[in-house]
Formats: sequence, C-alpha cells, structure tokens
Amino acid sequence: MSELPMTVRVDGLPDRVTIYEVGPRDGLQNEKALVDTGVKAEFVRRLLAAGLPIVEATSFVHPRWVPQLADAADLMELLGPAGQDCPVLVPNERGLDRALELGARHIAIFGSATETFAQKNLNRSLDEQFAMFEPTVRRARDAGLDVRAYVSMCFGDPWAGAVPVDQVVGVGKRLFDLGASQLSLGDTIGVGTAGHVTALVGGFTEAGMSIDQLAMHFHDTYGQALANTLSALRAGITTYDASAGGLGGCPYAKSATGNLATEDLVWMLTGLGIEHGVDLQQVVDTSVWMAGQLGRPSPSAVVRALAGSD
Ligand code: HMG
Ligand code: MG
Repeated sequence: MSELPMTVRVDGLPDRVTIYEVGPRDGLQNEKALVDTGVKAEFVRRLLAAGLPIVEATSFVHPRWVPQLADAADLMELLGPAGQDCPVLVPNERGLDRALELGARHIAIFGSATETFAQKNLNRSLDEQFAMFEPTVRRARDAGLDVRAYVSMCFGDPWAGAVPVDQVVGVGKRLFDLGASQLSLGDTIGVGTAGHVTALVGGFTEAGMSIDQLAMHFHDTYGQALANTLSALRAGITTYDASAGGLGGCPYAKSATGNLATEDLVWMLTGLGIEHGVDLQQVVDTSVWMAGQLGRPSPSAVVRALAGSD
C-alpha cells in the first residue's frame, strides 16, 4: 500500500483537476542519451495504466532539431490505437502531415511570447510564427483534430528577462484564437512566482478568456512549481502539465530544467482532497524504472521519499 498524505480540504479550490502528463515528450526531448523506442512505448503505457488521463507522447518536429524524438513515427506505430489518443507536438504543416498519416487525433502547437525564443525554437520571428501555425491549425481542425496551444516564456526569458503580462496575453490570445481548445501557459525556465501567476491568469481572464480554457505548465528550476500551482488552483485553473519523475527541459532554452514532477503534484492534490484519478505509487514505480533506464535518480522529492515503499 502506498503512503499518502492526510487530506485536509481548503475552501475555494477546485474539486477535481486534470493532470496532463508531458514526461515522454518534454521529459525525454532533453535527455542527452537516446532512449530506445520500446522503452518510450513502455513509459507511455505505464503512465496511462497509472490513471493519467492524458499523456503527450512525442513531437513531429524536425529530427535534426530534436534528435531525441526522431523516432516519433515508430513510437506511434508501436503504441497502436492508444497512441492515437495521445497528444503530439506539431509546429507546422509538415509535422501535421506526419501526424495525420499515423492517425493522431490531438496535436499541440507551441508558440513563444518572446522574439528571441521564437527565433531559437522555431526559426521564425514572433510574427512569423503565426503564419506557420495558421494553416497548420486550420487543416488540423478541418480534419477533426483537437488542437492545444502552448505559449512559452510566459514569466521570464533567458535573453529578454522579465516578460510583461500584456505581451504574454497578446501572444497567447492570438495563438488560442487560431482555433485551439486550450492554452497552456509555460514557465519554460521556471522563474515565475506565486503572485506573478495570479497576475498572469488575471490578465487572460480580463482579456475575455475563461479559466476552463487555460492550463499551467510549470518547470521547477527555482523550486517554485508547487507554490505556483497552489496559486493557480486559487485562481480556479483545473488543468496542470507535469512530468513523471520531474524529467524535462527545453533544448533551445538556456536554464530550462525539469517540469513540475507528476508525483509532487499528486501528493499535494491528494493532501488538499482534490480528485485527480492517478495512482501515486504506480507513477513512482514508473519513474524509478525510467530513472534506471536513464542511469540517474529522479529529481522529484516525492519519488525519492516513496521509492521502494510499496
Ligand atoms: P526550419 O529549418 O525553419 O524548417 O525549422 P523549414 O520550414 O525551413 O524546412 C526545412 C526542411 O525541414 C524542409 O526539408 C522541411 O520539409 C523539413 P527539405 O525540403 O529542405 O528537405 N521540415 C520538417 N521535417 C520533419 N518534420 C517537420 C519539419 N518541418 C520542416 N515538422 C521547425 C522550423 C519549426 C521545423 C524547427 O525549428 C523545429 O523543428 N523546431 C522544434 C523545436 C522544438 O521541438 N523545441 C522543443 C519543444 S517546445 C517546448 O519544449 C516548450 C513547451 O514545453 C512549453 C514550455 O515549457 O514553455 C511546449
Ligand atoms: Mg516545457
């Protein structure tokens, strides 16, 4: 039996949240060593079996830009029908064609709130990124696909420093209005703090977006991801991106380290009595197994505390 925290409900927080697992994509895109495709497929299957409702599997980006995910098509084939329900990252029409060939039903585009990161991550200027995404989203929607839109560098950027809330809201709304069903606000380098989260979410709701259309994507570089999550819960956000074992980062952003660990998030939500549907010990066991494959321990505090405790 797994250890769990005592549950103490707090007024004003959501009853239930959706955890959007990004370990196989955001986690593995940043690993130095190439991970075997069979191991990736096993990782995705184990995360689904642990009750994670959404597992982002891979990216259909240029294989030279992210060699770690160059096996996207092989992975989707190995996963079969289960893989078609897993979202995949797609930056452009070429990526969409590749995803459509394999029957993907959910894609995610990923834009930047800052000029430099748009150039480094997409080889496009801030304005040019919309021209790349517009036909991609239009064709995906026409084909009946669900589209999520990420916006990166929502809190700070390694080149531009602090990023004004208005600038993020402007870019985020433009991306969302292309036809996305959800906008995920990325703290790519983990510099955000709790008050900044409140201000950013407030900026989006004042601009007419509903809380239900927003998700939060925290990286834990400065150890703020859980505090930021609590702040977002208070604002009513009900979708959180997280990565099993705290794997993660972005190869094109200096100082981007691991995502909020799924286990750390599950521990906090369980303590708050917020439903999430995930079996904590199964995710911990999966992360311990994955750490063995990668040859280094998980950075997640909860994984370290619970490893081997079943
Ligand atoms: P580009 O070099 O400007 O591409 O890259 P292009 O449009 O000029 O095309 C050049 C060649 O690449 C062409 O081939 C295309 O067919 C091919 P050629 O005609 O010369 O033989 N090509 C492709 N091949 C396979 N798949 C594709 C593709 N596209 C073009 N999709 C591009 C532009 C966007 C493709 C490139 O910059 C790229 O792949 N970037 C991806 C970077 C990335 O994956 N970063 C990590 C994900 S974002 C992230 O982690 C942040 C997030 O977690 C949120 C957060 O934390 O903030 C989501
Ligand atoms: Mg990320």
